[in-house]
Amino acid sequence: MPLRQLQLPPDPAPLPTAVTTVLADGRERLTAHFARPGLQPGHGAIPSDHELVVRCLVTLRAKEPGLVRFLEWGSGLGIVAVAAAKLGFDAHGIEWDDAMVDEANRLSARHGVRVPFVAGSFVPPGSDRLLDRAELSTRTVLQSDDAYDRLERDMDEFDVVFAYPWPEEEALYRQLFLRHGAEGAVLVVYGQLDGVRAFRKVAGRGG
Ligand SMILES: C[S@@+](CC[C@H](N)C(=O)[O-])C[C@H]1O[C@@H](n2cnc3c(N)ncnc32)[C@H](O)[C@@H]1O
Repeated sequence: MPLRQLQLPPDPAPLPTAVTTVLADGRERLTAHFARPGLQPGHGAIPSDHELVVRCLVTLRAKEPGLVRFLEWGSGLGIVAVAAAKLGFDAHGIEWDDAMVDEANRLSARHGVRVPFVAGSFVPPGSDRLLDRAELSTRTVLQSDDAYDRLERDMDEFDVVFAYPWPEEEALYRQLFLRHGAEGAVLVVYGQLDGVRAFRKVAGRGG
């Protein structure tokens, strides 16, 4: 099955106050998180443009209200997932870094939404052949574990997956989504150069 690109322009309307409050809190938490003494230089958890991503999710929500179950791959401090919950998505997150998962849980609690965040790898089991083929000097952790078991969800139960891959990682992310995502599900990716793009897994040959 191939991936077909979707048009997902950012919604220009003012965001709901509950969402702008999450984004402002998230900015503060990011500043504090990266100011921690002892943080390793070269740490790869660079945040996406959360407001831009959220505005594109507003568009997706309006266009396709049936897409509800949302997963952030590499959820960092959980800012996109918590904002997505405020938009009405049934949001979840998987993040490798335990300290970030703790922060994400605190963010969701402060904003009164239930967003399961689990520590572990978003790379689903059964990806070994794709990982073997990926010749990457990557910041993504290229191993799978039981994160989906702990979420009590399989990858193909999610309608929308959001991720921020490095440019050289995006092809692998797309392959992982094609391999494990549900038909009709949408992968939303952020890139520093390309902004937000979205791809739907559709029936047919290719991919
Ligand atoms: C570029 S940051 C993006 C953070 C956040 N999604 C955002 O948009 O601001 C990528 C995140 O993915 C995490 N990560 C890398 N490999 C992972 C893996 N295999 N499973 C879960 N998280 C992973 C990193 O620790 C980092 O927090």
